[in-house]
Amino acid sequence: MRVVILGSGRGSNAEALLRAEREGRLGRAHVVAVFSDRPEARILELARSFGKRAEFLDPGPFKSKFSPEREAAWVEAIRAEQPDLVVLAGFMRVIKETMLNAFAGRIINLHPSLLPSFPGLDGIGQAWRRGVKITGCTVHVVTAEVDGGPILDQAAVRIETSDTLDALAQKIHAAEHALLPAVVARLSIEGLNSETGHAR
Ligand code: GAR
Repeated sequence: MRVVILGSGRGSNAEALLRAEREGRLGRAHVVAVFSDRPEARILELARSFGKRAEFLDPGPFKSKFSPEREAAWVEAIRAEQPDLVVLAGFMRVIKETMLNAFAGRIINLHPSLLPSFPGLDGIGQAWRRGVKITGCTVHVVTAEVDGGPILDQAAVRIETSDTLDALAQKIHAAEHALLPAVVARLSIEGLNSETGHAR
């Protein structure tokens, strides 16, 4: 299963995937390329350090979406890698029809809350401020509804009274680093039923 990763930042979840692949824990999945919408994003140097193709692609002038022309250019660059799966790992840009249609049902996203609670920006801070006692992370199929597609898997994290926001963020990131490679490995073996989020 050929995997393309899209990310905007630190790339710790891309790193978790690349480590899992190196250690033989990613099933039949194989990362073929990493693309970022930010030229300085750490995810790019990280992917190169694992020997992967890693490129900045211009997203256009907007902050949180693509311009239509640039989204089409991204689709071409991703398509050239012939991916079976596109993983959004900290990709902070909304995906529109052009990309959704090109890779229909084959784009998955990682989100730092137990969806459908706390979608959108700062899922960790939203849960913290709301005062819930259990939060976590979710991997779901990407659809036109932001953070609303079928859920593939989740991991729960308990918020202890002694936790600071930083401590909570660390616990959620640790849960993400286990969850995302496990989901990708499972999909590489079982396939993806993108309508239900269940194994085929
Ligand atoms: C992760 O916590 C991921 O859940 C979140 O960005 C972080 C990326 O970290 N994604 C979203 O909030 C998407 N809405 P990373 O760059 O170290 O993998």
